[in-house]
Amino acid sequence: MSSKELIVTAGAMVAEHKGLLAMDESNPTCNKRFARLGIPQTEEARRAYRELILTTPGLGECISGVILYDETIRQQKKDGTSFVKVITDAGIIPGIKVDTGAKDMAGHPAEKITEGLDGLRDRLAEYFQMGARFAKWRAVITIADGIPSRGCIEANAHALARYAALCQEAGMVPVVEPEVLMDGGHTLDRCYDVTEEVLQTVFSQLYIQRVMLEGMILKPNMVLPGLICPTQETVDEVADATVGCLLRAVPAAVCGIVFLSGGQSGELASARLNAMNVRFKSRLPWALAFSFARAIQQPALEIWHGEEANVPAAQQALYHRTKCNRAARRGEYNATVERTRT
Ligand code: G3H
Repeated sequence: MSSKELIVTAGAMVAEHKGLLAMDESNPTCNKRFARLGIPQTEEARRAYRELILTTPGLGECISGVILYDETIRQQKKDGTSFVKVITDAGIIPGIKVDTGAKDMAGHPAEKITEGLDGLRDRLAEYFQMGARFAKWRAVITIADGIPSRGCIEANAHALARYAALCQEAGMVPVVEPEVLMDGGHTLDRCYDVTEEVLQTVFSQLYIQRVMLEGMILKPNMVLPGLICPTQETVDEVADATVGCLLRAVPAAVCGIVFLSGGQSGELASARLNAMNVRFKSRLPWALAFSFARAIQQPALEIWHGEEANVPAAQQALYHRTKCNRAARRGEYNATVERTRT
């Protein structure tokens, strides 16, 4: 695969005001979300839920790519059609999560290092054969007293860059996801400083590992106060801090930026993305889009509840959130859009 094809794929992932739908929860994470709602934690329930998502009428209107998990990319609809075919028939690009999870980091209490580089070249070749054209790797950075450490930031940035280089070698666009977590009582200013340091380190490593920025996508957190911080800034303040930080740390050559939602409500994630696109419209060197999991899926999951009869209503809720986020990319999301169901 040539550089040109990587650039074309990366461009298509953020074109037409669309965004990505992350449905790459690992089995333990998916089971945890099912357990909270009393949904059976079986392979068949996970398959049925993913079929619900992928057969949502009109999904391709607002979604350019979906991120799958290893179990899901191998699954089929009840009628035997492979999920990859359902996705490509809808005009959507299949992607795949390829890290093997964040594990406790030796010598760094309370910090994590993401694993999965061993054998990655072979796994990427298999996923490419199966139809995947982009991949995702998530590093997690925790803010608390005395952390994140330099060791944790550098090790995760190095792994992200080696993953990204292997993806491009395999003809797949790397989605590079360094997530600074929302958990805790830290301030927005502290999140800004940590996010800036993390992004600077990641881009330094991407440069060292010769990753072509035009053929990659960055998936960062928004710059937010911790969930239990007593001061919670306004939507506009979050938008200003987030874009201000990105403008300092992300080279203009990067094809696009797609945010994770990280535990924000669907409405807040849409409102904050909208504010960024309204306030910085003419000053952005990259597309500012979305790659949400919970902020798109959560209402649909709650409506579905594991019941076949609830599938149409759940699909309508999922479609609605994708529409709200496409409107947010255009800077056209508001209370009326939120209330209007089609
Ligand atoms: O890696 C995390 C997902 O791709 C995004 O999930 O939007 O629920 O944070 P989230």
